[in-house]
Amino acid sequence: MKQLQIDDICMAFEDVGAGTPIILVHGYPFNRTLWTEQSTALKETHRVITPDLRGFGDSDSSDGPATMDRMAQDIAKLMDVLQIPQAVIGGLSMGGYVVLAFLKQFPSRVQALVLADTRPQGDTEEGKKIRAQQVEQILAEGMAGVTDAMLPKLLTPETVSRRPDIVKRVRDMMVKTKPAGAAAALQGMASREDHTEALSQINVPTLILVGREDPITPVSESETMHNQISGSKLVVIEDASHVSNIEKAGIFNQELTTFLSSVN
Ligand code: MLT
Repeated sequence: MKQLQIDDICMAFEDVGAGTPIILVHGYPFNRTLWTEQSTALKETHRVITPDLRGFGDSDSSDGPATMDRMAQDIAKLMDVLQIPQAVIGGLSMGGYVVLAFLKQFPSRVQALVLADTRPQGDTEEGKKIRAQQVEQILAEGMAGVTDAMLPKLLTPETVSRRPDIVKRVRDMMVKTKPAGAAAALQGMASREDHTEALSQINVPTLILVGREDPITPVSESETMHNQISGSKLVVIEDASHVSNIEKAGIFNQELTTFLSSVN
């Protein structure tokens, strides 16, 4: 693990391999180890950077909502310090929200996009209320309750019954998340912008991946992005849910590798 001071926080990240840089941004409430399989596969041919977003993993938390814009600015500053002018930027779920916020603020720094199990819209009013309840619950009780409620939506029933190793790994990431960091990110997600209108202006190569059984960011959301992002490629991964990059790491990595070889 490496650490750097980025503005008000000490940010943790991994930086492995050499070649065209790819930055992979984790979702909520995970950390950089979400991308272990992808780092391992890509580091032979690429420089792979996996940050812990503010409030997650080994990065510091900060006061107030951790907005998607702020998290995107953290990534831009990390790139400055690492002297990376431009990179392939990818994110899963909340990581995708951060990636879209990054693209809006720093378009010239994006060589290509990877949008996994994510969506372009902001939260509905109902969604915002649920986030506020989760903030209260997490700050009062810690991560265990929300983890147990969320886990069946992250993995297919098949994975839950047959892959205790994956269940344990995903659960461990979630329960280890700092309540203050999770709460700040929930507030940040609740106030995030809707990027739907901007999709048709995206002019970099874009790969969209989604688990066929993802109930959090369903296939229809990825189809919307695919229809609006000119030249994008959509891959629906069978027998996978929201954390498709872990559940079906082989297919996910194969698609990512093929995409990256077309971009470089
Ligand atoms: C995630 O996986 O990052 C979250 O489920 C996204 C969300 O809650 O909108």
